[in-house]
Amino acid sequence: MEYISIKGGNRLCGKVSMSGAKNASVAILPAAITCGGVVVIDNLPQIEDVTNLAKALESLGAKCEFTNNNTLVVDATCVSKHALDANMAKSTRASYYFMGALLGRLGRAEVPQPGGCDLGVRPIDYHKRGFTTLGANCTDEHDVVHLSCDGLKGANIYLDSPSVGATINLMIASVFAEGVTMIENAAKEPHVVDTANFLNKMGAKITGAGTATIRIRGVKKLGGGEYTVIPDPIETGTYMIAAAITGGDVTVENVIPKHMESLSSKLREMGCIVEEGGDWIRVQGNENLKACEVKTAYYPGFPTDLQPQMAALLCKANGSSIITENIFEQRYRYASEFKRLGANIKIDGRMAVVKGNCRLKGATVHATDLRAGAALIVAGLAANGETLVGNVCHIDRGYERFEDKLRSLGADISRITKDE
Ligand code: EPZ
Repeated sequence: MEYISIKGGNRLCGKVSMSGAKNASVAILPAAITCGGVVVIDNLPQIEDVTNLAKALESLGAKCEFTNNNTLVVDATCVSKHALDANMAKSTRASYYFMGALLGRLGRAEVPQPGGCDLGVRPIDYHKRGFTTLGANCTDEHDVVHLSCDGLKGANIYLDSPSVGATINLMIASVFAEGVTMIENAAKEPHVVDTANFLNKMGAKITGAGTATIRIRGVKKLGGGEYTVIPDPIETGTYMIAAAITGGDVTVENVIPKHMESLSSKLREMGCIVEEGGDWIRVQGNENLKACEVKTAYYPGFPTDLQPQMAALLCKANGSSIITENIFEQRYRYASEFKRLGANIKIDGRMAVVKGNCRLKGATVHATDLRAGAALIVAGLAANGETLVGNVCHIDRGYERFEDKLRSLGADISRITKDE
């Protein structure tokens, strides 16, 4: 079995460059199905979710070729299959974007329930209601969503909460819907904006992405072209927190500092020095971190995807901190693994109390999901002795060259195979 081994205690110092955003890439790849020409997508992170989606595109009839580790050429002009294989769907959460893409392009789609991180119940009722509002028939049979339409019609869609997945899926579907579609109470996350920018570059007419109201005027056809994915805000945040927890001095390059404001301001509140320029952020840690309150929220609030990594940092703060998880109520499954490292975390529903001044000590732990895995590695960087993190498949789904990048900053980290 594979483990990531971290021998803690090294201060991280130096510069590290960020990869393309996972959650933008995994939306743009399925969205490429709607394009009527060859699409070149640059700055894709080299991660399992991207590889799996490229395979899924091929299984539907698209031609895909990686011209280097981070550039994929997609020719979806010959896509004719409307049914996604169950194993493809299970490999990543983002397989649900094939619903909107295939429905818009072919007028029908069969997509099995998506996989992805187990963060408790993750319904897709907003997606399905939205497709119905656009004029599609939508049924669930044996865990497969069946969609069909005789041309979608623009409509007003109101989301009960600003779901990232529903906003993107409905935006992709309505690119070809006749007339105007309005998505109200839309998600504002950077990857929503990036997907809209990608579709617009190929000829779509989407305005308002990044605000609560997105307007899509249907077009007859999209073309092809080249697009570069934005840098990953969650990868960026993970390195910023890794710098802070080791009392280090790290400049994270190729980032969009505006996307990081909620984290930058929290780190400053805790006593770190955070400086930023056009496309970089420098984080200098502090021996005496202050405890604080963290409440996850939709963008531009504090991202739920950085909540576990932040919990690791709060273990080193002076005093008790409180986290409130407002997006996924079961996103504390990592707490029992943290306890093996000596952390003192008490969970009560959506709230976690993290006692600081903790002497973390190395242990064997297992990633319960992607960001939990990242958080265990971050905690391991600050623990005494060796931490072994298992279930690395979760981490490989979302971080490009994680060990290499941390090693370049001075971490003692490697991948090992161990007999059970
Ligand atoms: C996306 O998941 C991300 N995944 C997640 O990334 C991220 O944690 C999450 O957004 C929140 O930012 C991808 O982009 C592939 P939501 P998604 O729809 O789309 C409720 C990571 O680590 N809801 O915004 O599944 C839902 O239960 C991860 O990279 C409904 O009730 O999230 C949740 O409470 C994991 N019905 C809230 O909305 C619906 O139909 C937000 O979910 C849809 C959502």
